[in-house]
Amino acid sequence: MSSYSDLLSRRSRRKYEERMVSDDLIGKVLDAGLHAPSGMNTQGWHFSVVKGRKKIDELASYVGKADAQALCYGAPVFIMVSYDQSSKFAPFDTSVALMQMMNAAHMLGLGSVWINYINLMENAPSFSAYGVPEGYKVYGSLALGYPLDEPKARVMKENLVTIIE
Ligand SMILES: Cc1cc2nc3c(=O)[nH]c(=O)nc-3n(C[C@H](O)[C@H](O)[C@H](O)COP(=O)(O)O)c2cc1C
Repeated sequence: MSSYSDLLSRRSRRKYEERMVSDDLIGKVLDAGLHAPSGMNTQGWHFSVVKGRKKIDELASYVGKADAQALCYGAPVFIMVSYDQSSKFAPFDTSVALMQMMNAAHMLGLGSVWINYINLMENAPSFSAYGVPEGYKVYGSLALGYPLDEPKARVMKENLVTIIE
């Protein structure tokens, strides 16, 4: 992180400008994911980027959602992180990559939120038309764009840490 406060100030964002994110910034967010740690350095993930309202509306309708607003809060970029589903590392590695991408997005002035929808679909269809390799399962997705909402202060739970000396 550029600063520790960046790490603590990231919030999930749920309202986005229509403005497209540049390929340069999308590339930086993806690069952060690609640099995430993975079990035994397998790097078995795949990142599928769906760009633009028209294509995301189409994907939304493909998965039974009304439109991009319903699928990903109208974000102009939707990134699915998939993995060979036979890998025992898949859920962990994809989670770590998504977290790294959310932090990178925040550092770059973008907003993001994890979208837990496609990965929870029962009998999910093939997403090969959206860049997901055959045989891979989507474990999580990211909405990405310029945020319009005000980040809410985090309500912190208590008693979540135990230190034994
Ligand atoms: C595994 C996971 C799945 C999530 N799925 C969704 C989701 O489907 N939709 C959504 O709006 N937020 C989703 N979130 C975001 C959480 O609601 C959010 O991280 C939590 O409320 C804490 O807020 P913060 O990210 O602003 O700190 C998800 C977060 C995680 C880690």
